Amino acid sequence: MNASSALPTVFSGAQPTGQLTLGNYLGALRTWVRMQQEYACIFCVVDLHALTVRQDPAQLRENIFELTALYLACGIDPERSIIFLQSHVPAHSELAWLLATFTQMGELERMTQFKDKSQQHHQNINAGLFTYPVLMAADTLLYQTHRVPVGEDQKQHLELTRDVAIRFNGLYGPVFRVPEPLIGTDGVARVKDLQEPTKKMSKSAASELARIMLLDDADAVVKKFKKAVTDTLGVIRYDEVNQPGVANLLNIWCAATGHSREEALAHFDHNQYGKLKMETAEAVNTVLQPIRSRFMELNNDRGQLKQLLRQGAEQARAQADRTMHQVWQALGLPTSRT
Ligand code: TYM
Repeated sequence: MNASSALPTVFSGAQPTGQLTLGNYLGALRTWVRMQQEYACIFCVVDLHALTVRQDPAQLRENIFELTALYLACGIDPERSIIFLQSHVPAHSELAWLLATFTQMGELERMTQFKDKSQQHHQNINAGLFTYPVLMAADTLLYQTHRVPVGEDQKQHLELTRDVAIRFNGLYGPVFRVPEPLIGTDGVARVKDLQEPTKKMSKSAASELARIMLLDDADAVVKKFKKAVTDTLGVIRYDEVNQPGVANLLNIWCAATGHSREEALAHFDHNQYGKLKMETAEAVNTVLQPIRSRFMELNNDRGQLKQLLRQGAEQARAQADRTMHQVWQALGLPTSRT
């Protein structure tokens, strides 16, 4: 099966900037895996996006293969879905250029991720960091995507994608499908940092204790949850404002066990934070254990990963080129490729 089938299309991606966190998994990848049942899915390793922050070439190459292996280890099935590398399909950069001419500076200046990243990387506020959301718009619009499963941090970028698509269609007719974001439908829209639970869990947090990586071993997971910051109130309630650490642990426990928030509150009623932390660590380890063991095997076979990315790029290119033809035609650009 692939995205040219009768099923509606899903597109999503993650950056190869190091291993995935539990936030990436619960906010996005777990939903991707489930969506393969009902959608023609396209999952991209967005290496061009990663270049907006300076990367070591050898490390980037390694991260690209590791992320591909992690997609598979999490349950993305290359028989059902297209998995490919963004830089293998030149239409992404090409459409990004064209869409940049339909995107206003003011719109990009409002992006909170740009503001955050400019602070983090103040010595390298490059134009790519600024136009990052335009490349994301190109990613999704190229495949006439119906749904885009992402965590909450990407919501603003997808709103911009919709605005740009609507603007373009308004000028030239219905060239692009306007995609719907799906935010954290099958997990947690925003998994929080274990040390500063008002922030999202991210690969770039200063402390290792702040984040669970998908390939952390079982002891590391237990250690990090034991050290998770809570509060001094000593009651297990769901209160994101006054008890963000406890709320985060409850959300993670629910996502990892499949229980509802009410069930979680009943289960942990009159218990201490220690029990919540330990049971959350155990539940997360139960989820991560099969991913860790599948990853080791998959990551060792680089030949197979390369072959898979080559195949995926071919399938993706065929679809992307169809959209590019429509775009060129709409804009009045004569094509040399027919
Ligand atoms: P990236 O690589 O930062 O993250 C991949 C996915 O993980 C989600 N996520 C989280 N969800 C919940 N809690 C968290 N703490 C958390 N941290 C990350 C992200 O929302 C994302 O869904 N720009 C995107 C990649 C991208 C993309 C696209 C996505 C490029 N083109 C087109 C969708 C469609 C990014 O940097 O994701």
